[in-house]
Amino acid sequence: MIAKRFSGCQTEIARVQCADVTIATAGFTRDAAAGLSCSGVPLDTIIARVGTPAYVYSAALIRQAWRRLDRAFAPVPHALHYALKANSTLALLRLLRAEGACADANSAGEIEVALRAGFTPDQIVFTGVGKSDSELRRAVSLGVHAINAESPGEIDRIEAIARDAGTRARVAVRVNPDIDAGTHHHISTGRRHDKFGVPIELAPALYRDMARKPALVLVGVHVHVGSQITDLAPLRRAAESVVGLARALRAEGIALEHVDLGGGLGIPYDDSPVATIEQYAHALVPIVRSSGVTLLLEPGRVVVGAAGVLVAAVVDIKASGDRTFVVLDAGMTELLRPALYGAYHRIEAVRPRAGARRRYEVVGPLCESSDVVGRDRELPPLEVGDLVAILDAGAYGSAMSFTYNRRPLAAEVLVEDDGWRVIRRRSTVDDLLALEVDGE
Ligand code: LLP
Repeated sequence: MIAKRFSGCQTEIARVQCADVTIATAGFTRDAAAGLSCSGVPLDTIIARVGTPAYVYSAALIRQAWRRLDRAFAPVPHALHYALKANSTLALLRLLRAEGACADANSAGEIEVALRAGFTPDQIVFTGVGKSDSELRRAVSLGVHAINAESPGEIDRIEAIARDAGTRARVAVRVNPDIDAGTHHHISTGRRHDKFGVPIELAPALYRDMARKPALVLVGVHVHVGSQITDLAPLRRAAESVVGLARALRAEGIALEHVDLGGGLGIPYDDSPVATIEQYAHALVPIVRSSGVTLLLEPGRVVVGAAGVLVAAVVDIKASGDRTFVVLDAGMTELLRPALYGAYHRIEAVRPRAGARRRYEVVGPLCESSDVVGRDRELPPLEVGDLVAILDAGAYGSAMSFTYNRRPLAAEVLVEDDGWRVIRRRSTVDDLLALEVDGE
């Protein structure tokens, strides 16, 4: 078993080397005897204990992605603020914190979860297009590392809150550089007509104005042009535009501590080419090095995306016209991405049956025709009760799940080198009803 094979590594250095050696084998592997496994643990062994649907994460793959990122950006002073929105299950946050991660929170809720995971306020940046006064008050009073401000109006509110509290708020301005990230339009955030940030040409005057306000500490400039970006050109252009802004501000006497280039690097969900972590760093490092300031990044998907699968069971199979529907016990409530973006996730049988492969419409159990997991997929023959794994579901899977049709939230499992454990139990109807007041 893979986990056993490397369990003899003793020292920290040896452990890191082991992580490198296992790049091809850590995480999800398949063999004839065990079917699909996670770091040596057959998925059906886990499911026999926790049931379906369940998310299964590989700690080894998360650490591996994290270390690759950290190593790739080593040539410049940097801090990696993991974007909690991708997946903020506490056990994963604690794992990442132990790896040296900082945090990017997008709501007061994510700030509190980051604190509970052990992040300190100075390790947290607070981003988000609609921060309420109470969220800003919390961030200001905690003294987070930076509030990435989205508008002149928000900056006024931050300034008033900090002044009233007799403190100073650390602020970066999120600029909108009018760059098309070339990704799905739902997750493009850097074009003029997207709701995010301050048009970059307005930023110099805004910074001059902010510099006159003693309750504000101008710490950085922030940009995030989108997510699941596969081509580096837009990320390079975004970096050049904010580094140019930081340089121009310094020439005016406004010296920033950092440029925050957000997240956005994609992962290969299918066979289309995607820039690697190393190519990403290779593109950005020279631009940032020339600025002389610290680089902040807010990676999410690239850290956890490939490290998680959603395991579901086949609950029904039926023919309709020329289609055969395979109905799973997981759908858009567990993994919204296919329904919301038409996103593609590979689907694999956990223990493939012998026989000719067939074409299936793989759908969820919800009362919505958009509740499709994969259209027209060629798979080994499936039968009711079989398990399938929906791959690359670690990012924006569990984090975007919901309880429509009074469905419970799926269980989550983390597989470590030395075994596996439930990190979130499946919710119950009592959990679902816990907030309701019906007068009885
Ligand atoms: N920073 C900011 C300000 C962001 O808005 C995001 C993602 C990130 C960082 C992390 O981006 P990443 O490295 O994960 O691409 N639900 C969509 C993705 C939405 C991304 C929103 N912002 C999906 O399932 O594809």
